[in-house]
Amino acid sequence: MIFFYTILCLLPSLSASAIDEDLIIERRPHHVDWEDLFMEYNKYSAPDRSRQEVNLTLEIIDISFHRVLFELVQTWRDERLRFVGSVRVPVPSHIQPWYPDTYIRNGWDVIVEQKSLELNYDGTFSLRQKYQATLDLDEKNKLFQDLTLVISSFNNYGTERINYNLISSKSEVKNYEHISLHKVSRKSDNIYFDDLHIGIHYSPVISQPTTTQKYESSTLAQSNNSTK
Ligand SMILES: *[C@@H]1O[C@H](CO)[C@@H](O)[C@H](O)[C@H]1NC(C)=O
Ligand SMILES: *[C@@H]1O[C@H](CO)[C@@H](O)[C@H](O)[C@H]1NC(C)=O
Repeated sequence: MIFFYTILCLLPSLSASAIDEDLIIERRPHHVDWEDLFMEYNKYSAPDRSRQEVNLTLEIIDISFHRVLFELVQTWRDERLRFVGSVRVPVPSHIQPWYPDTYIRNGWDVIVEQKSLELNYDGTFSLRQKYQATLDLDEKNKLFQDLTLVISSFNNYGTERINYNLISSKSEVKNYEHISLHKVSRKSDNIYFDDLHIGIHYSPVISQPTTTQKYESSTLAQSNNSTK
């Protein structure tokens, strides 16, 4: 009797462990051993200690007076963190890799609302952030309500210099579709910074004559109807 009872008790645990094994086998291709990957890793050093390349993509979401909502994606390659596979995985919050100390140099009341960090198997990090920032009007162009967004490294953390490349930009904001770019080098305490000055230009679209005409004729037709 005791013998049968033991068998009965063992059965569920046996089947449960079999299921666990199946799950592990299924998850294997997406598995990253973070402790292994970060062994001997130095987060105080950039992947390139003399000139670190960082790619940017920018999307302007909304503009209200001088307050701008935008999404910024920064990508850089860290050869130290290649892993086998062909997946991009979210980086857990307790994992601290090197990342660029990028900030909005001319932003007032800057808020980072959302952020996510992902690592591709080839060592490419992708840091996506949603920002809110108040910007000053372009001094030269106050009349036209142009805005300038200055993206910069704070202190070239872990490297001599950070070189930002704006790979793509877009704006879905009405009358602010036009974006321009120029790089400005700056020296402070013998440290060189290569700032990106991104112009967000106010260029109102002249209202289409066809829509105006349509509106006038329909109001005329209505007034004619009402006099009958
Ligand atoms: C950065 O952009 C350049 C040019 O488009 C590309 O060749 C390079 O692979 C990109 N690097 C990263 C880390 O995204
Ligand atoms: C409105 O009525 C006037 C006079 O009957 C006519 O000349 C005009 O074409 C009409 N306008 C429209 C939009 O129907």
